[in-house]
Order: sequence, then structure tokens, then C-alpha cells
Amino acid sequence: MKALLCKQEGTPESLVLEELPEPTPGPGEVRVAVRHVGINFPDCLMIEGKYQVKPPFPFAPGGEFSGVVSAIGEGVTSVAVGDRVAGGSGHGALAEALVVNAAGLRKVADGMPLAVAAAWNTTYGTSYHALKQRGQLKPGETLLVLGAAGGVGLAAVELGKAMGARVLAAASTEAKRQAALEAGADEVIDYSDGDLKEKVKALTDGRGADVIYDPVGGPLFDQCLRSVAWNGRILVVGFVGGDIPKAPINLILLKGCQVVGVFYGAFTGRERAADAENWRELNALWASGAIRPKISAHYPLAEGGKALRALMDREAIGKVVVDL
Ligand SMILES: NC(=O)c1ccc[n+]([C@@H]2O[C@H](COP(=O)([O-])OP(=O)(O)OC[C@H]3O[C@@H](n4cnc5c(N)ncnc54)[C@H](OP(=O)(O)O)[C@@H]3O)[C@@H](O)[C@H]2O)c1
Repeated sequence: MKALLCKQEGTPESLVLEELPEPTPGPGEVRVAVRHVGINFPDCLMIEGKYQVKPPFPFAPGGEFSGVVSAIGEGVTSVAVGDRVAGGSGHGALAEALVVNAAGLRKVADGMPLAVAAAWNTTYGTSYHALKQRGQLKPGETLLVLGAAGGVGLAAVELGKAMGARVLAAASTEAKRQAALEAGADEVIDYSDGDLKEKVKALTDGRGADVIYDPVGGPLFDQCLRSVAWNGRILVVGFVGGDIPKAPINLILLKGCQVVGVFYGAFTGRERAADAENWRELNALWASGAIRPKISAHYPLAEGGKALRALMDREAIGKVVVDL
């Protein structure tokens, strides 16, 4: 089978396509013939050696996939050969086949395209957990989303609308703001000049936003603290924008606000029942047409590095997907 391998810390351009033996599933494991891989920011960090998980070399990046079960190991009863499945693997998915624990697989709902199934696990799982459990977002509240046309950001825009919020979407380019409007945002903000506070205040009669979804961090986090409403919640999701911010915590006191951490990977392990309930609700939202994950670009396996490059160069809108 073909796999796109990272053989040393490097750039997306240093990934190499090689032939590997097809893996065999052990007890409790399943082999999946991969059809699509959704690319996420951690894939980029992992090949650069900047992610908290550092797989031994060589490894195929790609932590989110969909495909068809091609073999099952001893004791597996939850899926059968031929089932359409999706799941998370940490890494290893940019390959024609991978072996994963059966417990980590989800059957793909009838009617859902496999490309969508590969593109929404991380983004919609993270953003729904963030807005529901961590942000306690209520209908009628104002939600501000930073990086609003990125993977998790665009999911937060759609889900915020589905949950009944008024959504302000902040993004750096006209094309990204247009994508946020198409996903349902009520208002868009150009924050490329670094100014957020005055624009949020102008759109909220000076109140600020009740919930702020922040996957960017860096200097913008300070602006979040100054743009949040009384009793507001700032969701700390990621730090693509630079250094991990240091907060002037007197502002947390003055605003009576909360700064709330979001760690979706840990949530799925620690609170399985709540995550399963979230996915029942997400599947229902998808079936009703209330959410439609956006895939803006597809790449073949041999050009998988270009998919990672699109995220690193801040060019991706919604999700980019590698097809096998
Ligand atoms: N906490 C969790 O459980 C969890 C789960 C999943 C992902 N994450 C994190 O969420 C963050 C976003 O992930 P993603 O997959 O949505 O990424 P993405 O698709 O690349 O989106 C990130 C967005 O951030 C903005 N951005 C600002 N500065 C940037 C920079 N220097 N480089 C790249 N983008 C920049 C961009 O929007 P503008 O150009 O409009 O500013 C971009 O659209 C990552 O840090 C990821 O690790 C966290």
C-alpha cells in the first residue's frame, strides 16, 4: 500500500510517498481502507515536531479519516468488513490502509458522504463541546468566533446559529468573511488590523460578546478579554496566531467573566457518555440540514503535503481533504 511518510522533522514538502506492507489487525483492532483524510492544524505541528505527541519516524501524518472496513481482528463485533466508518487515529491516516482500535471507530450515517465523515469529527466535535459544555451558549446570546473561516471556526459559526445565538464572525480576508456569512454568521468583522474590541462593541451596543470562541490566541487574546460581556465566557481553543498569551487577570475580575479551557481529545476519553450524546445531536443536526460542513479543497494522496501547506499558509477555508 502507498503511504505519505514523514521521515524526519520538516515541512509538508518533505513528505514522501512510499510503498509499505499492508498492516494486519490484532485482537480488538480493525483495518480500514482509507477513502478520505480531513486535515487539521495538529497534523502540521506534528510533522514539524511542535506537537505534544511525537510519533517515531517514519510515520504517516493524518489524524482523522473515513473509509471502509477491510479486515477485523479477533474479538471485534462492533463493525464488520464492508462497513463505512470514520474515526480519529492521531496519525497514520495518510495511507491507503491503517489499523485502529475498534472502539475508536464510528459507523457513518446512511446518506452521509464519506468525505464529509472525514471532515467533521474534530472540527464539529470540538466546537460543539466548546459551545455546549464549556461555553453554556444560550439562545439569544451573542457569540464571537475568531478564525471564523478555519476548520473549527466555521464549525463554531454554523453550530452557534443552530443553537440560536447571534453570531459575529471575525476573519482576515474578504473570501473568509464571505464563507462565514454563507455558514450563517449575522455579522462579519475584519480583524486583520488587530483591532477587535471597538468593532465588537459597535455591533453589540457596547455590551460585548457573551461567548468568545478563540482558536487563535496570540495578541488577540487580550482583545478578547476587552470584548467580552459581563458574565461572559472566553473559550480557549488554540494558539495558531502566535505565542501563548499571558492574561491581565484583573480584567477577568472587572468583567465578571470566565476563561474556560477546551480540550476535546481529553473530553472524549474522560466523558464518553456526554461525547456520545453530543454526536447523537450532531448527527440529528446534519440530518435536518441545519449544519453542512464545508470542504473547500480536495487533494490526491501524492499531493497531501499541499493540503497541510494550505493550513500553514492560512489559506484554507473550512476543511481541506485528501482523497485516496
Ligand atoms: N482545544 C481543542 O480541543 C482543539 C481541537 C481541535 C483544534 N484545536 C486547535 O484549534 C486551532 C485551529 O485549528 P483548525 O484545524 O481549525 O485550523 P485552521 O483551519 O488552519 O484555522 C485556523 C484559523 O486561524 C486563523 N489564524 C490566525 N493566525 C494564523 C496563523 N498564524 N496561521 C494560521 N492560521 C491563523 C486563520 O483565520 P484568519 O486568517 O481569518 O485569521 C485560520 O483560518 C489549532 O490551534 C488547533 O490545534 C483545538
